[in-house]
Amino acid sequence: MGGGNKIKSVAVIGAGAAGAITAAALKAEEAFDVIRVFERRECAGGTWIYDAAVRPNLLVRPGALPDEVDPPLEIPQSLPTVTRPNQQERFSTTPIYDSLTTNVPEIAMSFSDARFPYGPFAPHHIPRQYIENYFALHKTDSFLVLNTTVEDVSRIDHPSNDGSTQWKLTLRKHDAFQNADVWWEERFDGVILANGHYSVPTIPRVKGLEEYIQKYPGRVVHSKSYRSPGVYQSKRVLVIGNSASGTDLSRELISAAQLPVYQSKRSKAWWEGDSPPAGIEWKPVVSEYLSDGRILFDDGTYLDDIDAVIYCTGYKPSYPFWNTSKNGQPLWDDRRGKLVKSYWHTFFRDFPNLGIVGLPRVLTFRSFEYQAIALARLFANRNPVPLPPAGEQRAWEDEREQVRRRERRKFHDITWDDGETHEWLQGFLKWSGLGTLTGQGRIPPPLTKEMVWAIENLKKYRPGGDDGKKGPNGEPAEAYEWIVVEESRKRDVLGFV
Ligand SMILES: Cc1cc2nc3c(=O)[nH]c(=O)nc-3n(C[C@H](O)[C@H](O)[C@H](O)COP(=O)(O)OP(=O)(O)OC[C@H]3O[C@@H](n4cnc5c(N)ncnc54)[C@H](O)[C@@H]3O)c2cc1C
Ligand SMILES: NC(=O)c1ccc[n+]([C@@H]2O[C@H](COP(=O)([O-])OP(=O)(O)OC[C@H]3O[C@@H](n4cnc5c(N)ncnc54)[C@H](OP(=O)(O)O)[C@@H]3O)[C@@H](O)[C@H]2O)c1
Repeated sequence: MGGGNKIKSVAVIGAGAAGAITAAALKAEEAFDVIRVFERRECAGGTWIYDAAVRPNLLVRPGALPDEVDPPLEIPQSLPTVTRPNQQERFSTTPIYDSLTTNVPEIAMSFSDARFPYGPFAPHHIPRQYIENYFALHKTDSFLVLNTTVEDVSRIDHPSNDGSTQWKLTLRKHDAFQNADVWWEERFDGVILANGHYSVPTIPRVKGLEEYIQKYPGRVVHSKSYRSPGVYQSKRVLVIGNSASGTDLSRELISAAQLPVYQSKRSKAWWEGDSPPAGIEWKPVVSEYLSDGRILFDDGTYLDDIDAVIYCTGYKPSYPFWNTSKNGQPLWDDRRGKLVKSYWHTFFRDFPNLGIVGLPRVLTFRSFEYQAIALARLFANRNPVPLPPAGEQRAWEDEREQVRRRERRKFHDITWDDGETHEWLQGFLKWSGLGTLTGQGRIPPPLTKEMVWAIENLKKYRPGGDDGKKGPNGEPAEAYEWIVVEESRKRDVLGFV
């Protein structure tokens, strides 16, 4: 590993769940002189930090890509230096809303050496506290460099001139007391990206939407700005999307908005029945926004007098710190929706001293653990088995891309039912091995029967729709927070992640 590099210093970008487990795995190797975890927020926790104050009009242009809405900052000519504070939107606040509970069973959402205090589906402050505590548990909190954004990552020659490379990081720390930004550079032998991919919201390009946003300022928002239903009291609301955010928001809005709450959906979610829950009316995809305020749908119907449109259409990964010209290639290909020249969703063919944890849509925290252990082991040069040669890695990437395109599935989504998750985790087991006899290095955890059962059977939403169904004492099924499901499934068990 490392193309001849001896990795003694490692930078981790981000202190969410992926950064927390990566720091613990790196520390456990006892092989590195320096480990630093750079985090742009004021504390660890990532997605799970709750921001009460949101920018309601968080500007996202319909159809715009992260390159356009989240471009790199201009880096001062000479460093270190102090500048006026950055004013550019960096999308660092999180989408957590008041009522959000987790949707992955606690046993699979926690790392193998510490459980959540309770579950299976906990309120959002539980994972936040858990991640912060996890740094303390492993005494990796001293690695944290908070309020510090990594603004540039550039590959440079190693000072030893032995043909190996390092990474130069340009860092910006906001000093709230001085109301200034402090800039400096640091060099590392290895870098692990743990910066998440649910920061930059995305909304589709729709005919007339740009003009509609201009004409009715504040009417269109993204779910990232949603906190609670109160502000929608008696309003006519259209929710776009029916994945986790769209489902939660439309159901919650029933208690405040004028009924029905309209929900535009493109496909059927596995938890939906044939008709919407009481209080919600389903609409197809929006085809056009008209200047008189009317909203047209694919089936020729329209709505007027809508007071609020909430786009629950998800997020796109963004890597504004990646210096494409200095590094010779981009990191992310937006058009293809994938990392460039990557292997196993974790390694980079051309950059053996670079890794990424947390990108694929699969089990979350628990799968980050496998990725982090394998990367730590490779960086420590203790892997029992090498990664496959470049040609084989390339063949994996090309074949996956072809198959995924044919199946109309996303490159970085990993399924459970067909054994893909097991195969993927098994790969990390192979490259990680057991650590050393004297205890250096974490060992990849087993997928226990208890965990597999929870993943396959504990569901936050009732498949097939809960409308009208009654519980054992005649109470509406919606009264349940979660249920055990042991009936046959039509969609992949990880379809909700
Ligand atoms: C609304 C919502 C609900 C979710 N619910 C669930 C759930 O119930 N269960 C579940 O398992 N998963 C859920 N997820 C997915 C969730 O994102 C993952 O569980 C997990 O928290 C991701 O961790 P991460 O560390 O990869 O990313 P994040 O949590 O996003 O952490 C990345 C960190 O990197 C920092 N960062 C980014 N760029 C820089 C930079 N340039 N310099 C320095 N720091 C940087 C960010 O500030 C952030 O703290 C949800 C996601 C969303 C959006
Ligand atoms: N803990 C929780 O309960 C919770 C709550 C919210 C979010 N989350 C997590 O947060 C992440 C993001 O979830 P998300 O729901 O915000 O985004 P998402 O899962 O990416 O879903 C985006 C939704 O937008 C729909 N969509 C896209 N374009 C559309 C269009 N033109 N018209 C109508 N619908 C359109 C998609 O439909 P298609 O399905 O047809 O593509 C999909 O339903 C996920 O990991 C999720 O699990 C968790």
